[in-house]
Amino acid sequence: MASDALPRVVRTRAELRTALASAARPIGLVPTMGALHEGHASLIRRARAENATVLVTIFVNPRQFNDPSDFEKYPRDEATDVRLAGTAGADIVFIPTVDEAYPAGFQTTVRVGALTEPLEGAVRPGHFEGVTTIVAILLGLAGAERAYFGQKDAQQLLVVRRMAGDLGIATEIVACPILREPDGLAMSSRNVRLTPEQRAAAPVLRRALLAARAGYDAGERDGEALRTAMRNVLASEPLAEPEYVSCADTATLRELAHVDGPALLSMAVRFGPVRLIDNEPLA
Ligand code: PAJ
Repeated sequence: MASDALPRVVRTRAELRTALASAARPIGLVPTMGALHEGHASLIRRARAENATVLVTIFVNPRQFNDPSDFEKYPRDEATDVRLAGTAGADIVFIPTVDEAYPAGFQTTVRVGALTEPLEGAVRPGHFEGVTTIVAILLGLAGAERAYFGQKDAQQLLVVRRMAGDLGIATEIVACPILREPDGLAMSSRNVRLTPEQRAAAPVLRRALLAARAGYDAGERDGEALRTAMRNVLASEPLAEPEYVSCADTATLRELAHVDGPALLSMAVRFGPVRLIDNEPLA
């Protein structure tokens, strides 16, 4: 499909099934919650480059919001999202209602174990069950050859990959790099909710990660020293309220006393009611 054409919008499981039955393969799936920005667009463009059909899903999934006001305030603009998805290369956009995503009588939960316990899982109870349940549904409905996820949500990516492997889901889970604003702030649908003062302060996450990364590059291997380096930078910004700061084993997401293999620096920081996350892998 030409990149300037509007994609086909489908809203029910049945319409999606019909649309996919005649779709050219391979199919690339990009699950999103809408409020699309350049980060999402980069996933869609990658799917466009690697597949014959690109399916984008837009669903603000109530089951993964542990905070009801975060769910209510989540930005929604369907017309803009459909246009942006089309410009980035989507052929089909699936926009289910809650009842269509979770049909009457729905009673299945997909829960991944230890990987979901630390970090986001520790501060957002039920979040990952919501994510893995909806992603399992979307992977099942799409039957895609590939599905694209951002490194921005590093734990989500690891959890989804684990789930797909454990359940024998044939879709390849493709990891995509983090897209950032020019000042280093990771693009996020929640950034529009920051006040101008909070927005100006928000790049402190990136600065904190880069300070620890510089320490690592200079030979620092003590996990607590790397966490302290991040905390010190965050403490310099009065509007930033750190929720967690982590230097963890990439395979297990357990905190490291000593870094001697692949590790993940990550953090969640509040600016008033808005919660931002970011991360930096250490090879
Ligand atoms: P959402 O936050 O809309 O993100 C959709 C996808 O875009 C995720 O894979 C996320 O990691 C990726 N993404 C977000 N910001 C990005 C950035 N700055 N750079 C690169 N990729 C970025 O994540 C979800 O939705 C939901 O949990 C979902 C997987 C759709 C399940 O409901």
